[in-house]
Amino acid sequence: MKFALPSIVPGLTLLLASGPGQVYAWGMKGHEAVGFIAMKFLAPEASKFVQTSLRGSQYHSSLGLAAPWADEVRRQKGYAWTAPLHFVDAEDDPPTSCSVNPTRDCTGHGCILTAIANYTSRVVDTSLDDSERQEALKFIDHFIGDIGQPLHVEGIDRGGNGIHVTCAGRKSNLHSVYDGIIDKLLDDQYDSSVIQWVDSLVNRIKVHWITCQPGSGFIQRSVNAQTMLTLDSNSFGDDDTLNCPLVWAKESNAYDCSFVWTYDSYDDLCSDENEYYSGAVPIIESQIAKQGYRLAAWLNVLFDGETSLP
Ligand SMILES: *[C@@H]1O[C@H](CO)[C@@H](O)[C@H](O)[C@H]1NC(C)=O
Ligand SMILES: [Zn+2]
Repeated sequence: MKFALPSIVPGLTLLLASGPGQVYAWGMKGHEAVGFIAMKFLAPEASKFVQTSLRGSQYHSSLGLAAPWADEVRRQKGYAWTAPLHFVDAEDDPPTSCSVNPTRDCTGHGCILTAIANYTSRVVDTSLDDSERQEALKFIDHFIGDIGQPLHVEGIDRGGNGIHVTCAGRKSNLHSVYDGIIDKLLDDQYDSSVIQWVDSLVNRIKVHWITCQPGSGFIQRSVNAQTMLTLDSNSFGDDDTLNCPLVWAKESNAYDCSFVWTYDSYDDLCSDENEYYSGAVPIIESQIAKQGYRLAAWLNVLFDGETSLP
């Protein structure tokens, strides 16, 4: 459909659609999709932890509903320090050359790579209280989504936020176009429903999307805070909590060279008559599906000792 109809999505999504606010990354729908996909693949212990940790009326025990939380709080004073944890500013040169180099790109108080490692060790740390572990779970839920967005693994113009383009007839920026494309895709093909989109993606998911499987020693090896702040290639080599996010980051970042910069600045990038739109949809769909699947694998290894995927 061409015009914006009021959302007729059932319950949950409407509930979440409150407050426009600023959109980040995949936007709320992309993050919800990653969480809802992961819910379909959780092993028994991981599922039990998620159900308990996220119980109550706010999240209804769902990673889907809890996934956008990290974007909501980053605007609050007490959480402003978490803003840099949503990305890694790769100082590469797309579309000519793409790379992620933790020593070069993950500086200061850390980045998405160290954040995933940090919250991975915290979510299984029984010396923390329930609310701290819930917070760790919500950060993992969110960051494993963000790391699949090519512009979250790119430093140029603040991850494309400073690059002006057009989306659905409106002025936008390259970073936000990835949101706009999800909105249009859902309106056009999935009745504006994240749930319908998730069902379709889950049917298309294949096992080899995990790419990087944390080894069995990964749970015991709590990540040393000092290691995280003084990153070198050694810390990445033998620690899967750092290594897997790096593998995923490189995969996302490679899209900055193969696709993200292939737009024509005069085009409307969110129009289905445009090649950019039709090229972006399969990339976005596979990135969202993979991150949802990887999130489930990650939690399954943490709580059940193996990926336990079909
Ligand atoms: C890990 O997370 C906690 C809780 O958010 C935070 O206080 C701490 O600074 C983080 N540590 C590192 C090394 O990122
Ligand atoms: Zn984010």
